[in-house]
Amino acid sequence: MANITFSSPTLAKDVTVYAIAGDTNTLLAVAKQNNIVIPCQCHEGDCGSCLIKVTNLGPNKPKAIALTQKEKLTLSVNGKLTKEALENAETNDMPPPYRLACQYVVRDEDILVEFTGEPGVEIDLRR
Ligand code: FES
Repeated sequence: MANITFSSPTLAKDVTVYAIAGDTNTLLAVAKQNNIVIPCQCHEGDCGSCLIKVTNLGPNKPKAIALTQKEKLTLSVNGKLTKEALENAETNDMPPPYRLACQYVVRDEDILVEFTGEPGVEIDLRR
C-alpha cells in the first residue's frame, strides 16, 4: 500500500490517497480516479503539461526511478532534467525531482506529488 499525497495551489488542502501495491497505474490515472486535476494534454509523454515534483516520504530508498524514453526526452527538452540528474537516476538510483504524471508508474512507496496546476509550470525546487 502506498500513500500518495497530492499538493497544489489548486487544491483546498493536501489530499492523501492510497494506491494498492502492485498497481501499475500512472500517477495521472490515480489522480483522475480521485478527482484531482493535473493538467494533461497528450497522455503520451510528449507535451510536458503534466509536470509534477515528486518527493519520496518513506524511510526506504525510492523505487520509481526508471524514466521512460519519452519522459527523459520531454523533461530534457523542457529544461526540467539536467544531464547530471539523469545520470544520477541511471547510475545512482536517485530519481530526479521533476517527472511526468502520465509516465510515472506508481510503486509501493509513500510520495508527495506537487504541481502548480498550470501546464508544464514547475513547483519551485526550494519549496
Ligand atoms: S500529458 Fe503530455 S506529457 Fe503527460
